Amino acid sequence: MLITATRQPRITSVAALLIAVAGALPLVAQSPDVNKLLREIKAADTDLLSVSEEDGRFLRVLAASSGAKHALEIGSAFGYSAIWIGLGLRETGGRLTTIEYDPARAKKAADAVRRAGLADIVTVISGDGFEKIPKVSGEFDFVFLDAWKKDYKRFFDLVFPRLAPRGLFLAHNVVNKQAEMRDFLAAINNNPALFTTIVTPSGEGMSVSYKKK
Ligand SMILES: C[S@@+](CC[C@H](N)C(=O)[O-])C[C@H]1O[C@@H](n2cnc3c(N)ncnc32)[C@H](O)[C@@H]1O
Repeated sequence: MLITATRQPRITSVAALLIAVAGALPLVAQSPDVNKLLREIKAADTDLLSVSEEDGRFLRVLAASSGAKHALEIGSAFGYSAIWIGLGLRETGGRLTTIEYDPARAKKAADAVRRAGLADIVTVISGDGFEKIPKVSGEFDFVFLDAWKKDYKRFFDLVFPRLAPRGLFLAHNVVNKQAEMRDFLAAINNNPALFTTIVTPSGEGMSVSYKKK
């Protein structure tokens, strides 16, 4: 079980459906060059840092359908999820700032974003999110948290005050690494200003919370 308290988010039937069909979907939703690039990033990612393709698709769907304009990602790694989010934002006129602690990874992420034709949409910042986020101005309406799991609660505390009303706060690995982030899961469950569900497009689990008005 994810959490034993009665207010735990539910793993929805939509999530089960996503698991069932995502593996069967061909990569037709973007240009052949971008598909090739996404596959290249995955092939080189021997430490398996990047989200799954199913989770990437889910991020794109949410970024586009929520109409996000000012997105933040914490933990870019090689830019895989940033590209999926950027593809969604291309349809909304939105922008993504993504922050990566490791300078070599940040450089690879920036190169990948350029190759994906998303340099006008996605900005990669090299550095520690705790230091860099306060320097990014404005409210966020879409946040994807995918840094080290023990830091999730601290990142949530830092970003939540800047989440716009109806803004989405997403966090990765909330099922397969829940033991490393119990304080974060309690925080999103117990915050009366948030409504949260958990989906599992590929089993790792993503919390999806929106800030009530
Ligand atoms: C799981 S990977 C991110 C994968 C990426 N979201 C994707 O799906 O393509 C986690 C990344 O977070 C970075 N990270 C960890 N702590 C961080 C921090 N405090 N600020 C910025 N990045 C951080 C790590 O260096 C690592 O590259």
